[in-house]
Amino acid sequence: MSDLFSFDNQNELGMVMSVDTSQVFIDVHNSEIMTKLGVGHLVAIKSYSEYQLLIGTIEKISRTVTEKLEFEFESDDELVYQDHPNDIVKVVLIGTFKSVDGEKRNVFKRGADTFPQIDSESYLIEGDNLQNFMNLISEGIRDSERLKIGHFINDSTAKAILNGDKFFQRHASILGSTGSGKSWCVATILEKASQLDFPNLIVFDMHGEYSPLTKGNDKIAEGFRIAGPGDLESTDKNVIFLPYWLLNREEVLSMILDRNDNNAPNQASRFTLHIKNLKENTLVRNNKEQILKTFTVDSPIPYQIQDLLMKLQDDDTRKGVGASNKPVKGEWEGKLTRFISRLEAKVSDRRYGFLFQPPEQALKYDWLEQLLYMLLGYSSERKGIKIIDFSEVPSDVLPVVTGTLARILYEIQFWMDSNHRTPFTILCDEAHLYLPIKEDANSTERQALENFERISKEGRKYGVSLLVVSQRPSDVSKTILSQCNNFIVLRLTNDRDQSVVKKLMPDSMKGITDCLPLLDTGEALVLGDSILLPNRIKLDVPKIKPDSMTKDFWKEWSKNKPKNESISQAVENLRAQSRKEESEV
Ligand SMILES: Nc1ncnc2c1ncn2[C@@H]1O[C@H](COP(=O)(O)OP(=O)(O)O)[C@@H](O)[C@H]1O
Ligand SMILES: [Mg+2]
Repeated sequence: MSDLFSFDNQNELGMVMSVDTSQVFIDVHNSEIMTKLGVGHLVAIKSYSEYQLLIGTIEKISRTVTEKLEFEFESDDELVYQDHPNDIVKVVLIGTFKSVDGEKRNVFKRGADTFPQIDSESYLIEGDNLQNFMNLISEGIRDSERLKIGHFINDSTAKAILNGDKFFQRHASILGSTGSGKSWCVATILEKASQLDFPNLIVFDMHGEYSPLTKGNDKIAEGFRIAGPGDLESTDKNVIFLPYWLLNREEVLSMILDRNDNNAPNQASRFTLHIKNLKENTLVRNNKEQILKTFTVDSPIPYQIQDLLMKLQDDDTRKGVGASNKPVKGEWEGKLTRFISRLEAKVSDRRYGFLFQPPEQALKYDWLEQLLYMLLGYSSERKGIKIIDFSEVPSDVLPVVTGTLARILYEIQFWMDSNHRTPFTILCDEAHLYLPIKEDANSTERQALENFERISKEGRKYGVSLLVVSQRPSDVSKTILSQCNNFIVLRLTNDRDQSVVKKLMPDSMKGITDCLPLLDTGEALVLGDSILLPNRIKLDVPKIKPDSMTKDFWKEWSKNKPKNESISQAVENLRAQSRKEESEV
């Protein structure tokens, strides 16, 4: 029938006894094979065409014993009850194999073209048949598109290869409980991407976990960090500032405006007016006539925050002029006081220095393009993968900062000549921290969500995709997760998280996700169009490991003495709000 598979009696499983769309129940009459079967094993079912086999994975194996009244021949043909094992296997169809498909030979594709008929014969795919089939699966992806992430559990020689284009094209997600192996999986994917000539990935690293990948001779990525309180005077090129003028109106207001204040509408409108004027002044000074005609209050154009404060102060204190030129209460008098003090508090707080205390050059008109050359552009001295360490960003502004940076990257791509766009991916580590579900989000989080949701909905058209990583899928924006087309799911122990993943899967795949709580560390299911076979995979170990966030308590308690000097340094760090290592002191 085909040169790929050769089945004989030993592989024979039994007949199809019932079909319920993509679920097939097989009555196993080969009781020897029954003991070999395992969940996840592959099964081939004959179809009406001799050139076609339906392929499925085993989801459930059951044996029920029924008693039947039968003649006992040995003892005088007496009627006695006999035990009859009833062996049934539930199989979920995942694809169709064709030995001849037009011009092509031996083709496997996802989805079942037809459904099996009752009494169709079925076979366990094992031994040479399994090897051949797995080879076919990995050969199905062109060399230039291959992203090898590990090997299949049911055949350790079979490489698990994703279609790299499909994986990154339409957003993907890596989900798993803490300690399941997400960070290693990210490092493996980055390592594979680093072997390409121009990989363009920007990693939002929340804990500085991926910094080992940016160090040493074998580094695979360029390391940046968002300026912490101790970096404000730094001239290091890899320290990133995101000056306030990059934020659009809503982003600033989400941080500063108290919507419960009676004067909130006044405050927002004066703020908007002044910003517009200040940006206009900058454009005039820089002779940007063309831009002057069409810019908006949200256009990223530098201005001095002190000028804004002065204008607001003036509003807040200016008297009005009444009848016979007598001073009366001014139109805005006293209405902006609280807004100003909230803004001033942020401006003078060093933790927000990366926003409000940028160095002189970050207020220059051409500064933004320099930043974007580093993050999106190409330089022969730099690596294409960029890892940005957000670990010193205060958690209350984390959503604004990640959201603003993502928005700017996206907008640059949006406004770029479509002939010159090259695609890039933003990897959102610990996404539940800044991409929460909408109902739970506060004003800054909503702002960030909006930016990311826009990328998740429209990014594909412009070659921008997201790779969302989280240990708590149930706390991550549903809009964003539901836009993902590919999932690498590692061990998930929590019920709520499992049910989120189940909901994201098509019905036929739901059963496969039952094994999620049982996966070993570094084991994953890949679900989506980037892989032909949704089966258990053991992920490769990355060459450069991320900094482990997991401490070995028991081992450390028998080995490592706490040091008072380190405590002293930590106390000073806490005061300075800057993490200096002891060796630097
Ligand atoms: N593919 C793998 N193979 C073997 N061990 C792994 C693998 N991935 C992770 N581990 C082990 O599990 C630990 C936790 O992995 P990590 O990626 O930090 O988990 P997570 O980011 O999900 O919390 C690692 O320190 C390593 O010992
Ligand atoms: Mg991790």
